[in-house]
Amino acid sequence: MPSTLLTVLGVLLSFTTLVSSLGSTCSAPLGAGTAAPSDPYWMQNIKHQGTAAFNADPSGYQVFRNVKDFGAKGDGVTDDTAAINNAISSGGRCGGGSCASSTVSPAVVFFPQGTYLVSSPLIAYYYTQLIGDARNPPTLLASSSFAGIAVIDVDPYIPNGFGAQWYTNQSIFRSVRNFVIDVRQVPATNSQGTGIHWQVAQATSLMNIVFEMSTEADTAHQGIWMENGSGGFMGDLGGKFGMWVGNQQFTVRNITVNNANTAVFGVWNWGWTFQGVTINNCQVGFDLTTGGLSESDQTVGAEAIIDAVVSNTPIFVRSSVASNGKLAGSVVINNAQLTNVPTAVGVVGGATVLAGGTTTIASWGQGNVYKGTNGSPTFTQGTIPAPNKASSLLDSAGHIFGKMHPQYADYAVSQFVSVKDNGAKGDGHTDDTAALNAIFAQFAGCKIIFFDAGTYIVTQTLTIPAGTQIVGEAWSVIAGSGSAFQDINNPKPVVQVGAANSQGIMEISDIIFTTVGPAPGAIVVEWNVKQPAGQNGGAGMWDSHIRLGGAAGTNLEASQCPSSGSGGTTACFAAFLALHLTTGSTAYLEVWLADHDLDGDGVSQLELFSGRGILSESAGPVWMIGTAEHHALYQYSLVNAQNHYMGLIQTETPYYQPTPAVPTPFSVDSAFNDPTTFAGSSAWALHVTTSSNILVFGAGLYSFFQSFGQDCLDSNTCQSQIVNVDSSSSINLYSVSTVGTTFQMSVNNNGIVNQSGDVDGFASTMTSWSQS
Ligand SMILES: *[C@@H]1O[C@H](CO)[C@@H](O)[C@H](O)[C@H]1NC(C)=O
Ligand SMILES: *[C@@H]1O[C@H](CO)[C@@H](O)[C@H](O)[C@H]1NC(C)=O
Ligand SMILES: *[C@@H]1O[C@H](CO)[C@@H](O)[C@H](O)[C@H]1NC(C)=O
Ligand SMILES: *[C@@H]1O[C@H](CO)[C@@H](O)[C@H](O)[C@H]1NC(C)=O
Repeated sequence: MPSTLLTVLGVLLSFTTLVSSLGSTCSAPLGAGTAAPSDPYWMQNIKHQGTAAFNADPSGYQVFRNVKDFGAKGDGVTDDTAAINNAISSGGRCGGGSCASSTVSPAVVFFPQGTYLVSSPLIAYYYTQLIGDARNPPTLLASSSFAGIAVIDVDPYIPNGFGAQWYTNQSIFRSVRNFVIDVRQVPATNSQGTGIHWQVAQATSLMNIVFEMSTEADTAHQGIWMENGSGGFMGDLGGKFGMWVGNQQFTVRNITVNNANTAVFGVWNWGWTFQGVTINNCQVGFDLTTGGLSESDQTVGAEAIIDAVVSNTPIFVRSSVASNGKLAGSVVINNAQLTNVPTAVGVVGGATVLAGGTTTIASWGQGNVYKGTNGSPTFTQGTIPAPNKASSLLDSAGHIFGKMHPQYADYAVSQFVSVKDNGAKGDGHTDDTAALNAIFAQFAGCKIIFFDAGTYIVTQTLTIPAGTQIVGEAWSVIAGSGSAFQDINNPKPVVQVGAANSQGIMEISDIIFTTVGPAPGAIVVEWNVKQPAGQNGGAGMWDSHIRLGGAAGTNLEASQCPSSGSGGTTACFAAFLALHLTTGSTAYLEVWLADHDLDGDGVSQLELFSGRGILSESAGPVWMIGTAEHHALYQYSLVNAQNHYMGLIQTETPYYQPTPAVPTPFSVDSAFNDPTTFAGSSAWALHVTTSSNILVFGAGLYSFFQSFGQDCLDSNTCQSQIVNVDSSSSINLYSVSTVGTTFQMSVNNNGIVNQSGDVDGFASTMTSWSQS
């Protein structure tokens, strides 16, 4: 590199350090949105220059597609099915049954305002964001002759394929936003008329969707149909819809269902959390298939509902089979406000379990309740210990605070700046550190910073100053690469969100943070920022994920680091720590942190080494709606943490353990307050030390393997302990489902709750645990 250029970079870097320590210095703060009433959503007209850095043809491959450019009319009359499907599939994308998953052909498929008539499914290919105009959400109108599984299908069944589908059910990276899906023209009784076939796994979201459908009693219409998968998040949904759902685990936040027969029909799960549910004028709120006890007979294992408002609905929650005095489908209800709901909890054709009326249910459970170090459950169908909910976690209605993924619908295109227009390349090889630091220095707080689709390599810590709003495109990638992140004894943040002790707005959406391996010294995200006073959720991340290895460009794929271990250790370090919430920070997180092989066959296992998942030392408030998988020492560690809401957390223990055993190839590092004790040879899913006011509302903690083998699974001996809480912490846990582990709960490192008493289908469920 010429020396003049080096000097320039040096100046830029020191300038940025100064600026970020002071916070944003821009002179024309962003302020309110200035879009004119007639303007379309900014996404429609912003310059489109996103690329897929690792596509075979990065300059030719089109990431952003406006369906009208592909011939869709949106006039409510013309059948737009073929045009929209062409907009989605063009460019040699991953689909058709011959490609299980891929990160190299991402797409945003944008729908301007309008009504799009469709007669067969819109097939949402892998790694697609279907996004409607957020100012005037377009309608997807199913024609009267509509035929097919659903208006939007994310995983088609292959005709005559004996149940085979395009993608594995662990299909990830999907999002659908800002639509009205209207199936009212489809004859209500001809077994057609589903809004979305949503068979997905993690890093997926449905948001801001209104479903319109028949309210006839015998209608076949339904909003969401999901038969299996391993999810996932959905939120901000409304309309006359119902969902028919089976999936290992899911988090659903902020849904309103009006005038449906059944709001939610649960067919099977290991554990779901519903947060913020409004149900009006339905027949049944939650209709749950229960009673299955064996792995082959999996029904609804655990349903956890917090902050429900239900009116004029005969039955709030109904199970298909009575419990008969033992765990058979765990239910937790926290803060449900009922108005004219005669039965709060009932059984099909059977007795009322909990009478309703016009009343509030504070804390109710059905299942096995544990206290302190007593390992014997009390089977309960009644009041269960209530959590101590920190007031900082609540909104003005007393509900757990929630915040929708920011979409900036009121902002004009001129209020955004593109990083590619300002010197960043995002091509997967150029070092963009200096360009990005300069962009933050100039624009943070003045403009919304748009990361055009691409992979942005950084070789030094990137500090995003407090006051910044960032939006990606089809999950723009920021990747830490090189020697700065390779010293396991001196780990460095790839991205610092806020300088130490900074305060201000921070909104990050549609971004992936990752590393190029090996990166044994990478702290992928260090989160320092604190929300402005009085602005809950002012510092957060939505649809943003920390993804390690398994994707093109990471140097940590199946060819380098296969499960055989032939890649060795040194070359296969993915990170030191994925996410660190430091002491002064606050955070609202809807995230996923994991490793998976996405560009191979979609199912191959990897042997990658990521030291730690999420470490929180924050005094809160912290809202965590997310998952962490496959980290070596722990998935979640809370140390001196306070005022956290966590629901639903989903974790998996590394498949390679105990070869090597925890913490190898890392070592316990007191500078990061690592746990010093491990039970047996596996990582903790959740380790809690001297923390207070912690509420875990739904957890799916899985340990499926030992040394990539599953002989341990049936006997639940893949690991011995998985959650540890020290006796000085105050924490309530609800609806905790575990797989493959003997003890579900440990106190001071002693296993307390043996899963054998909580078998509930494939998983075992501890309905409630409290200190006393
Ligand atoms: C998913 O569910 C469908 C419908 O019940 C079933 O045919 C299919 O085998 C399931 N797939 C997996 C992988 O479990
Ligand atoms: C997902 O598919 C895998 C096979 O790819 C299967 O083993 C697993 O049971 C499926 N999981 C669910 C929840 O359907
Ligand atoms: C809930 O969803 C509705 C409809 O999308 C939205 O208007 C509202 O802002 C959301 N509320 C929260 C707290 O996310
Ligand atoms: C867990 O419970 C099962 C069934 O009672 C028992 O066989 C097993 O020994 C227990 N495990 C431990 C570690 O106590």
